[in-house]
Amino acid sequence: MEQERALALRVVMMPRDTNVYGTVFGGVILSYIDQAGFVECRRHGRHRWVTASMDRVDFKAPVQVGDIVSLYARPTRMGTKSITVQIDVEAERYAGTEVAHVTQATVTLVSVGPDGRPIPFRDPPTFVG
Ligand SMILES: CC(C)(COP(=O)(O)OP(=O)(O)OC[C@H]1O[C@@H](n2cnc3c(N)ncnc32)[C@H](O)[C@@H]1OP(=O)(O)O)[C@@H](O)C(=O)NCCC(=O)NCCS
Repeated sequence: MEQERALALRVVMMPRDTNVYGTVFGGVILSYIDQAGFVECRRHGRHRWVTASMDRVDFKAPVQVGDIVSLYARPTRMGTKSITVQIDVEAERYAGTEVAHVTQATVTLVSVGPDGRPIPFRDPPTFVG
């Protein structure tokens, strides 16, 4: 059964996030995509999670200062030591009520033990600190 998407992160874009043109850096959004993947994966196992891959990311609309950016996560593959998560990024405009579809990405995170080697994420928690 296909899993539903869940809100993983909601953040307000600040002046520090912008490039010289006044719009938000793509790299800022990529960082939030990474975090949203982690938020989803941690629900499935309290381990260290590292990002193994992030697929092609096409930006469809710019993000502006003051926009409220929401990142929704939906697991698309539950492996043994990894989870693949689809992330949808939407921007609620600071001025007005429009919600723009910014981008979509697929990230795969791998659960690792204290030694950094992959472990099954359904194992008992290895990170409780
Ligand atoms: C990701 C990493 C732990 C994989 O280690 P590995 O020994 O090659 O992993 P394995 O071959 O044993 O595979 C373990 C799981 O990871 C998945 N995996 C490994 N590399 C992957 C990749 N590039 N993309 C997607 N999944 C990957 C495998 O499919 C497997 O998942 P499964 O058990 O659910 O089927 C290792 O390459 C690593 O530490 N990379 C750096 C991660 C990091 O620091 N990220 C942040 C960068 S700043």
